[in-house]
Amino acid sequence: MSDHYAVIGNPIAHSKSPQIHAAFARQTGQRMDYGRILGSLEDFAGDVRAFVADGGRGLNVTVPFKQEAWALLADRSERAAAAGAVNTILVLDDGRLRGDNTDGIGLVRDLRDNHGFDFTRQRVLLLGAGGAARGVLGALLEAGPAALTIANRTPAKALALAQGVAATAVDGCGLDDLAGRAFDLIINATSSGLDGEVPALPHGLLAADAWVYDLVYGDAPTPFCRWGEAQGAARALDGLGMLVEQAAESFRLWRGVRPDTAPVIAMLRGAAASR
Ligand code: ATR
Repeated sequence: MSDHYAVIGNPIAHSKSPQIHAAFARQTGQRMDYGRILGSLEDFAGDVRAFVADGGRGLNVTVPFKQEAWALLADRSERAAAAGAVNTILVLDDGRLRGDNTDGIGLVRDLRDNHGFDFTRQRVLLLGAGGAARGVLGALLEAGPAALTIANRTPAKALALAQGVAATAVDGCGLDDLAGRAFDLIINATSSGLDGEVPALPHGLLAADAWVYDLVYGDAPTPFCRWGEAQGAARALDGLGMLVEQAAESFRLWRGVRPDTAPVIAMLRGAAASR
């Protein structure tokens, strides 16, 4: 009998996770299936319980349930605890649940391993101070940049997030406060793209050869990637690679095998290009 996994979110029909995990399972010869669950906005905990009662072995958690999953699970990895969000649930052999978060490592692996970005001596700007920004902050700091600035439309939230970090080269500010500064990597962790918008940023923030990275992705370049290109970015990357990398880390936690991500990223890019 094959082990059962799923992604839970609301909405969920658009999720690429089933396709990604099916490709990983084929590639590694793992006997598993992976479905999608439209989670109830009123009873997320009940949906998780029902999945486990049916013999489910693991869940990916997506919008809008990551914080709720964090609150539901007492047993969390250190990185999930710090992120305040859980995107991966493991059902242990004794039936207990453990929460982890693979979003941050997914982002860093895509930038560093897939694209060759070297974080050392780099000045990184993280835009946004909500759940998505908190989810990637720890892994970004571990990647070892020279400095990390968190900037947000509501400055107080960026300041609070920066103050919660026990590292010296981290600061928080509002978007206007960025004027006159330059960065080697700018990461968009705001939800502005959902409204087709870009954060209101001063011009000239990109150092020579700077990269921009949008946590979200689409079939066409995202508004933030287009902004980066217009500002002269050397590379403008969307979050498709991060999506596959966070999935690969979840897969490794569940199955003990790390799949090769490159062919899966290529498959998804190819599918998007042919639409
Ligand atoms: P998520 O889980 O996607 O991070 P969130 O916790 O609601 O969602 O946070 C959304 C983030 O995007 C916030 O940092 C928000 O800024 P505010 O704190 O000022 O609300 C940011 N955001 C959303 N729309 C934006 C826009 N049009 N311009 C700039 N920032 C935006």
